[in-house]
Amino acid sequence: MKTIIEPFRIKSVEPIYVTTREEREKLLAEAHYNPFLLKAKDVIIDLLTDSGTGAMSSDQWAGIMKGDESYAGSPSFYRFESVIRELTGMPFVIPVHQGRAAEKILFTIKSGKGKYIISNTLFDTTRANVEFAGGEGVDLLCDEGRQPSLVAPFKGNMNVKALKQFIADKGAENIPLVIITVTNNSGGGQPVSMENIRAVKEVCKANKIPFFIDACRFAENCYFIKQREKGYENKTVKEIAQELFSYADGCTMSAKKDAFANIGGFLAMHDPELAEQSRNLLIITEGFPTYGGLAGRDLEAIATGLEEIVQEEYLKYRIRSIEYLGEKLDAENIPYIKPTGGHALYIDAKAFLPHIPADQYPGQALSCALYLEGGVRGVEIGSVMFGKYDDDGKLVSPDNELVRLAIPRRTYTQSHIDYLAEVIVEVFKKRREIHGVAITYESQYLRHFTAQFKML
Ligand code: F0G
Repeated sequence: MKTIIEPFRIKSVEPIYVTTREEREKLLAEAHYNPFLLKAKDVIIDLLTDSGTGAMSSDQWAGIMKGDESYAGSPSFYRFESVIRELTGMPFVIPVHQGRAAEKILFTIKSGKGKYIISNTLFDTTRANVEFAGGEGVDLLCDEGRQPSLVAPFKGNMNVKALKQFIADKGAENIPLVIITVTNNSGGGQPVSMENIRAVKEVCKANKIPFFIDACRFAENCYFIKQREKGYENKTVKEIAQELFSYADGCTMSAKKDAFANIGGFLAMHDPELAEQSRNLLIITEGFPTYGGLAGRDLEAIATGLEEIVQEEYLKYRIRSIEYLGEKLDAENIPYIKPTGGHALYIDAKAFLPHIPADQYPGQALSCALYLEGGVRGVEIGSVMFGKYDDDGKLVSPDNELVRLAIPRRTYTQSHIDYLAEVIVEVFKKRREIHGVAITYESQYLRHFTAQFKML
């Protein structure tokens, strides 16, 4: 059969309230033209994030009932630990309430003044944790990853030559950790190849630098390896994941992504000393080592989610549904980061709205237009999120102005995706009528969450 179906049936549903354009105009004005400030019930298709927004399976819900809530030594922890040990080969498994809690513990120990943490691209919470501990985050992405319209199989790869050079320049003693994000969320959800992981590992090993993986979307990355990298076509995704983790000294994970959980995460590693230090911090900030920041029921849901995520019928549908959206945009020559990523499509707002300069925030203008047109909520990843001011108060913009449409797992059907494509195409047709926006209020840190705007 040619049609790829959603490989699940729906047992429980949530209603979507369909707003009118008139209502949305009022709601968006009340939200100060920042979709973050909208109420979720006023959104028709919510693509703000794929984090914690997926649908759990009936087995996961059964796990919620089975979860054992003992303070210490819960059987739910031992199940969680054994699933993660089997997948990663890492003996020390530390549960946390979400990914950034693992980052906070890891970088409190590893980062610090005068230290560099190197990545393909650090996710913003990861960078914030590196920098909050006094260190500096350094992104060494491959050249292909910097060209939005270029089609290449592994645009999330690290630039290995630049890594060697950086180590030679700054000294291995000042680089306590290298961490690769799979898939590369901030760079378009693009995958990293096994070959690149191996090459980075070798460089790290030669310089005695621990090598970690930010594993939030490991299964999506491994499915791309199976599809695109020679030698992996006949391996199972689980085998590929086991190989991927085998090169790492440790990993951080947000279970809100590729573990189909609404909350949770973990930190895992080989080094017993680091595990001991991490658990000491865990007890102060999260909880006892056999529950971390989680309830026993969450540990069960995550363990089951990790078993389900490597199922290939699921991944085939998952990756295909985003590619399918990309094809609909290709038919209208709508610019987006190519190829489509594992969890999201990133519209290139700079190319979509070339008449809007960076200081009028084309990504923000586009996300407002998508909401007004069809009640779709995406997120700006551009000058609002990453813009800084220079000494003269002039905006310094990042390279790209994007709108990320992140697709929650097992949540929307093909007709929702068809509707979404229709909304984007409609906005594209009217793009010349779209105006920029100006900031009327902003906070000092992470301004994109709370900033307020006016339409120009
Ligand atoms: N690393 C990556 C690559 C992420 O995408 C995220 C979260 C985190 C770490 C932090 O995990 O949210 O559980 O604390 N990304 C979400 C997103 C928020 O929308 O992309 P967390």
